[in-house]
Amino acid sequence: MNISRDAAAVSPLRYDPLDPDTLASPYALYTRLREETPVFWHEQLASWVLTRYRDCRDVLRDHGLFARDRRRVGEDVPEFRQSVQSLDPPDQTSLRGLFINSLRAQDLDGIGRRARRQVADIFDRMSSRAEFNWMTEVAAPVSLSITAELLGVEEPELEPYVQISDALARRMDYGLLPGVVETGDRARKKFNALVDSWFETNDRPGTLHDVRKNAAKARVPEHYIRNTTSVTFNASFGTVYATAGNVALTLLQHPEALSRLRDERLLDTGVDELIRFDGPAQGTSRVATRRTTIRGTVIEPGQTVLTLMAAANRDPEQFPRPDELVLDRSPNPHLGFGWGPHACLGTIFGQLAVKQLVIGLLDAGTPLRLAGTPERRRTATVRSLDNLPVTFRH
Ligand code: HEM
Repeated sequence: MNISRDAAAVSPLRYDPLDPDTLASPYALYTRLREETPVFWHEQLASWVLTRYRDCRDVLRDHGLFARDRRRVGEDVPEFRQSVQSLDPPDQTSLRGLFINSLRAQDLDGIGRRARRQVADIFDRMSSRAEFNWMTEVAAPVSLSITAELLGVEEPELEPYVQISDALARRMDYGLLPGVVETGDRARKKFNALVDSWFETNDRPGTLHDVRKNAAKARVPEHYIRNTTSVTFNASFGTVYATAGNVALTLLQHPEALSRLRDERLLDTGVDELIRFDGPAQGTSRVATRRTTIRGTVIEPGQTVLTLMAAANRDPEQFPRPDELVLDRSPNPHLGFGWGPHACLGTIFGQLAVKQLVIGLLDAGTPLRLAGTPERRRTATVRSLDNLPVTFRH
């Protein structure tokens, strides 16, 4: 592709999302990128990178100009990839509506209550351990149970599914690490077999049941539903898992914030602020359908634009005191759940899951403490932890 770029368009700052310092905390670098080169060309990612709030939000909102569906710029999208995530309005509209309505019809309070009980039971079991990994003992099982219950499918076995999810999360970074593609594609095949089994045997109440019941009326093709079920399950598990880790670490590093969350009036705004402050979704991409300019930089049709939502979420032009946790921040139009026609389908469930974890931490008899150095997962698109060593013992 013919990339028109001048010297100013290529950032003099080295942006390597997988650099260990950036993985530890990308926010100082995001600040410099926002200030010094808010629109720059990243050779390895083959994308224009945006870091300012308004630019990111405008791109995510304008699906006419910035497409998700790459068929709109003449590329092929195989049938097995066609889902709510890959289609744009108007093709996406009834499919998205079908899933949103079915998700909203689920018993939010019941799911919340059961998640809270599960968290309390795990904490009981872990209370005497000298140390445990929050990611494997808490984040993974809680995210998996919530996701399976919400979709109304049999809960997959934890270990094998976590491996599948991990490989799929890593695959999103194929531009940076081409080696992840093969493992990711193998994991996708295994996961598809699981999804097929849900379609053959599932008779549980839940989102999938409701979606299938209403699909004919909505005139949505079967493969869109199957692929969107798969996308939704993975998006739910992967992001709730990563958020559970990021939020726990933030609260362990800001114990005063956790104490303040005892004030129930702060819980809703506090959960959103925790996601703005250090959410899992770092960036997402769109492709320009026409020639356009962003801050004077020409974007050609067919070029990819990467919106770094996590950088936008710390933009002082939108968020006063962006590097502080302001638990009563309101309004808080952060991009942690995306924006526009591809914004998160499961926002209320993501918020619900985080809330149950926060309540669990507040209700724990003794406060949870960090018991070692956290290890970040080496992924760029989703910011997550592999190991968060913690303990209830003092
Ligand atoms: C705290 C937890 C969560 C976070 C931070 C989160 C974040 C996001 C973000 C940033 C996007 C937009 C990506 C883009 O524009 O490319 C997204 C999309 C999506 N999310 Fe979530 N999510 C969470 C939980 C969930 C849950 C629980 C579900 C399932 C019920 C879910 C299902 C989806 C789906 C299906 C999409 C694709 C929507 C589309 O492309 O139209 N997410 N999520």
